[in-house]
Amino acid sequence: MQTASHSPSSPLTAGRSRALSGRCRPPGDKSVSHRSLILGTLAVGETRIEGLLEGDDVLRTAQACRQLGARVEQRGPGSWSVSGPGLGSLLEPAETLDFGNAGTGSRLMMGVVAGHPITARFDGDASLRKRPMRRILDPLALQGARVLEQAEGGRCPVVLRGTAEPLPVEYKTPVASAQIKSAVLLAGLNSPGRTVVIETEASRDHTEKMLSHFGARVSSEPWGEHGRRITLEGRPELRPSDVRVPVDPSSAAFPLVAALVVPGSDIVIEGVMINPLRSGLLTTLQEMGARIALENRRDEGGEEVADIHVRAADSNRLVGVDVPAERAPSMIDEYPILAVAAAFAEGETRMRGLSELRVKESDRLEAIAAGLRANGVDCEIVGDDLIVRGAGRVQGGGLVATHLDHRIAMSFLVMGLGAEQDVTVDDDRMIATSFPDFRSLMERLGARFV
Ligand code: S3P
Repeated sequence: MQTASHSPSSPLTAGRSRALSGRCRPPGDKSVSHRSLILGTLAVGETRIEGLLEGDDVLRTAQACRQLGARVEQRGPGSWSVSGPGLGSLLEPAETLDFGNAGTGSRLMMGVVAGHPITARFDGDASLRKRPMRRILDPLALQGARVLEQAEGGRCPVVLRGTAEPLPVEYKTPVASAQIKSAVLLAGLNSPGRTVVIETEASRDHTEKMLSHFGARVSSEPWGEHGRRITLEGRPELRPSDVRVPVDPSSAAFPLVAALVVPGSDIVIEGVMINPLRSGLLTTLQEMGARIALENRRDEGGEEVADIHVRAADSNRLVGVDVPAERAPSMIDEYPILAVAAAFAEGETRMRGLSELRVKESDRLEAIAAGLRANGVDCEIVGDDLIVRGAGRVQGGGLVATHLDHRIAMSFLVMGLGAEQDVTVDDDRMIATSFPDFRSLMERLGARFV
């Protein structure tokens, strides 16, 4: 597998497009894909996965599962089979677990390793090496794991020694993060007692759902105003279970906003997961006046999905809104594309409480603001808030620095489809981490890349 940061960058330009039309199906959800491979590894026997996201991030997790002793095979497009050695029987990996650009894969797997008597070295690309790992390593140390080596500031490369008998803990996450919650729960799987995680703001619940799908006893109850208290009984008998991965709402967000900013557009995005802990962007866009209808709502593999019908706001333009900080966990990966929608809206959009954006694949707060300014959009960072003053149109013409961040690249390409002048991103390679067919899917809808 090639590490993008070692090969030359590949700029891409998007230009003003004709009205987008047609139907599309973006790839499987990244969060669910990582978890299905991991749980498949922790169950003895064969787990079948349909609709797996075949992006670089997830393929790295598949490779790490193999290094820990699982048999992981592709059976057809999106169709995969995992046969795990099972909880408690993982092998010590001989080589470094190289997660490339993948924060989720690396952090969840740290939890898995922490609950086994094995030592593993974790590393990744230049972006992953900048991301904070202490938020994961601190609770794992309370559970009994030991950090043997780490780069300055608790960063990758990290060498972690797990334990055969993780201690049962009650842990309150310092920030709303599904990755922290998941790492603690995955480490707690092999604990002889009960592991409790408290979060004051609820984060995505895919780990809890998948754990119970595989037969673990896990319960979740409200905690405080917006939080949850999750309890996992240790040492469950995990049974292999088939998984159908729904469409990733964080990827669907790109054609969705593209259809809002290219005049005359009318598209349907099929089978998108509408889990309420992931649907903050839909709420916000609807408040901005977007014409979005959720059609054909149904259950797919334990998640509610819908076909999203979206039409450009011709006469009734989008308007600026105030996005409350409590909504951030349910749309944490969608702020770059929301900022693009806000740039095309009329009036001020204030997105509150975005400190977590500083520790994503890039410092997204700075990367968004720089990209907006490069394209003539008036914006400002005030504390942890981003303010975008939309003028109903975007001049464009800018060159955007993506800093190895797939969502920055896709967001500004979407901007180019509706802007008056072309928009160029300095590097499109990282798009393959989460949405390998982004360009062809968008082109089929009518998007113009030059
Ligand atoms: C993810 C959780 C989020 C999100 C990431 C995927 C997950 O990160 O940004 O893309 O699958 O658990 P945090 O948990 O750090 O908020």
